Amino acid sequence: MWHSGSPTSSDAALRAHLHRWWSRCELASLETTLDLETGRHCPTCGSDAHGRPWVRLPDGTTPHVSLSRCGDHLVTVVADHPVGVDVESIAAVSARWDPTLVLHPSEAAHDLKEMRPRAHDLKEMRTPGTQAQERAATWCHKEAILKALGTGLTTPMSEIRVADWEVADIPAPQGCWASTAIIRQTGSGGSSTA
Ligand SMILES: CC(C)(COP(=O)(O)OP(=O)(O)OC[C@H]1O[C@@H](n2cnc3c(N)ncnc32)[C@H](O)[C@@H]1OP(=O)(O)O)[C@@H](O)C(=O)NCCC(=O)NCCS
Repeated sequence: MWHSGSPTSSDAALRAHLHRWWSRCELASLETTLDLETGRHCPTCGSDAHGRPWVRLPDGTTPHVSLSRCGDHLVTVVADHPVGVDVESIAAVSARWDPTLVLHPSEAAHDLKEMRPRAHDLKEMRTPGTQAQERAATWCHKEAILKALGTGLTTPMSEIRVADWEVADIPAPQGCWASTAIIRQTGSGGSSTA
């Protein structure tokens, strides 16, 4: 769910999304005030002031949530499994792109081929715009995976091979890219909403 154009706090955004999610589940009125708890937990230092967001609904259930900001844009996701979301400016990712920091060794071989095409490959070379979008997609996939894992960037992006994970791109505001990642666990539901 996108929350654009206003300085919405991340907790207010999560509440708005959870309210919609809960109302669908319970067929309750959208006017009902949802008395839910939200918080953060940092798996690195144990702090409850920052880190992975969590929510607890009035019935005690704890759906998985994630959120991301880019400029005025804020996106939240809710799912029955550990989930992550990331939104990035395509131009900003291009400007700070460093394949050694972002790419897994098996992905780096592919990236190098695109950056240094041999003469007979030139016809197939992707346009700079397409390459920028692909890099933003790779970045968003990796940050979404790291949020779903809960480690964030304490796990280097280069340790993540996107092909090993379940990721999806979602419609994003002009100039941005956004992706989700979900880690399905057996024995529970499986939907996520953005
Ligand atoms: C999570 C992270 C990848 C997000 O980077 P970003 O692109 O700058 O920011 P985004 O807007 O996309 O996401 C921010 C949100 O990520 C979430 N987040 C933060 N840490 C997270 C974690 N470990 N796992 C999952 N989600 C996390 C939070 O909800 C945060 O928003 P909030 O502060 O309003 O609650 C990055 O900030 C990070 O790795 N942080 C953790 C680093 C860490 O653990 N350091 C050790 C501290 S002791």
